[in-house]
Amino acid sequence: MKLETDYGRVHVAPLDELFALTAEAIAEAAAACREGAVVALTGGSTPKAFYRWAVESRALDRRALGGVVWTVSDERHVPIGSPESNFGNARQLLLDPLGIDPGAHLPWPVDLPAADAAHAYGRVQAKRQGGAGTSYDLCLLGMGTDAHTASLFPGSPLLGCLLNDNWFGAVEVPQLGWRLTVTPAGLQHCGRILITVTGAAKAAVLREVLREPWDPLVRPVQLLREVAGRVTWLVDPEAAAELG
Ligand code: 6PG
Repeated sequence: MKLETDYGRVHVAPLDELFALTAEAIAEAAAACREGAVVALTGGSTPKAFYRWAVESRALDRRALGGVVWTVSDERHVPIGSPESNFGNARQLLLDPLGIDPGAHLPWPVDLPAADAAHAYGRVQAKRQGGAGTSYDLCLLGMGTDAHTASLFPGSPLLGCLLNDNWFGAVEVPQLGWRLTVTPAGLQHCGRILITVTGAAKAAVLREVLREPWDPLVRPVQLLREVAGRVTWLVDPEAAAELG
């Protein structure tokens, strides 16, 4: 099932079809940007299932991904070897099994203090993109049950910087610690965004996000309204249960 919303196109399908669409989008980004697409994977638990599927199904052909540079759209300020590390998980579960050259890895520099890490990452990104005006060619996102996305949580000070030029920032999140994340401005400069929402626990918040009034301070993922034309929601039937 597909439905058009103010926040982008919503594609409802079983998990393996959502994973196949994700792999297709990655391959399309790789093909579209010969000089090296920057693909930002997402964090949390949902992507781990995708990584396992992608490796087992061989859906991603390393040769077709030659120029891709791999990063994550947000990161916990922990050592890359920590099980909490989004890039660490992506490297362990996807990049290394696919044989992706470490030279194509673009982790956040978590060994620096958080604010310095965000600045340094932004500079590397800007240099890599050479003024192309794109933060990520393809940005994968998830959504929490509080309607956060990346590390943009309700009430976050980063939500106020819609007009700010900083595409990447650092923010201390109560109970979670320091996070590094693409900012609202960074989301506005993505080539394409795929946001994957799965599981019954997300059904109520997904309905609220798509149906309730626009209020990104309360529902940060509603920021995607500004770039709806470049956003595809990949939703399984359980998470879509309240969409009617
Ligand atoms: C993170 C993520 C975060 C995640 C959502 C959904 O670092 O945790 O980037 O934004 O995408 O919390 O997480 P789940 O997929 O685990 O529900």
